[in-house]
Amino acid sequence: MTRADAPAKMILFGEHAVVYGRPAIALPLPDLRASAAVEPNTRGEAGQIELISPVTATDIWLHEAPSNHPLAAITKNTLTRIERTAPVPLRITVDSTIPLGAGLGSGAAVSVAMSRAIGRYFGLDLEPETLSSLAYEVEIIHHGSPSGIDNTVIAYEKPVFFIRGKTLELFSLDKPISVVLAHSGQVTPTATAVRKVRDLHERKPEFTEACLDEIADLTHRAYKALRGGKLDQLGEWMNRNHTLLQSLGVSTPALDNLVEIAVSAGARGAKLSGAGLGGCMISLVEPGTREAVFQALLEAGASQLCQVEVQV
Ligand code: MEV
Repeated sequence: MTRADAPAKMILFGEHAVVYGRPAIALPLPDLRASAAVEPNTRGEAGQIELISPVTATDIWLHEAPSNHPLAAITKNTLTRIERTAPVPLRITVDSTIPLGAGLGSGAAVSVAMSRAIGRYFGLDLEPETLSSLAYEVEIIHHGSPSGIDNTVIAYEKPVFFIRGKTLELFSLDKPISVVLAHSGQVTPTATAVRKVRDLHERKPEFTEACLDEIADLTHRAYKALRGGKLDQLGEWMNRNHTLLQSLGVSTPALDNLVEIAVSAGARGAKLSGAGLGGCMISLVEPGTREAVFQALLEAGASQLCQVEVQV
């Protein structure tokens, strides 16, 4: 059996603004992962591939799947890119510990894990750039016009400072970042949230541009601070980024509530992460406040809570 995996991601600053050419910062979450296993299948014929995902209750054959099925698309695109066909019937099984629809990049992580595993099965160690572009093609199916930040941070598994079509800077964190994540319990497709911001941009271009510019400013400041290990203002900037995302219309009362609970319990800052309209809230904590923030969110009934230490 040939296995490979890929991490989840969180956007620390700049979601949505990144769609409009502003910078964003994303970090991999190495403890939450999607995995894929490729092995010979006892059923089927040479060239045929069965795609199984227990998490989404999927069991389909590649040759019968619609071309826009994400698991079929990544498999087909990878095989085309590496110019291979299955020499015997194969089974690819996908698994994941990444909450679905949480803004944590579960779809892109599955794509990268699958491409990497398929490459390995054929003796190839696919480069992050190749994995990222293959995953991007599938992100287009999900989200229409994604910025590409999710597939990038997941394929490279390094913190990224990213400007769409322009800048990809990989960097390392000087100091670890401790985060408590909580799912709002709501799931909305990324495309819906991106469309909502686009509608606002059409109706109120000046207001929207001003919000995007301020997010860009926070992102630049945060990048400088992260590289210099000076994290004292990071929480404050996260709070402001959240307020600006509220102004863009992509927060929800549930996300605002989680942010408020985390900050009241001692988090240095908190914001929604990812596309919003549901999904996850991330809060920046320290060893001394982590437990209190976790408990406060737990008592408030937050679903799918987790603590992560990001040191990459
Ligand atoms: C989704 O994780 C991040 C967004 O900025 C969309 C994108 O970058 O394509 C909302």
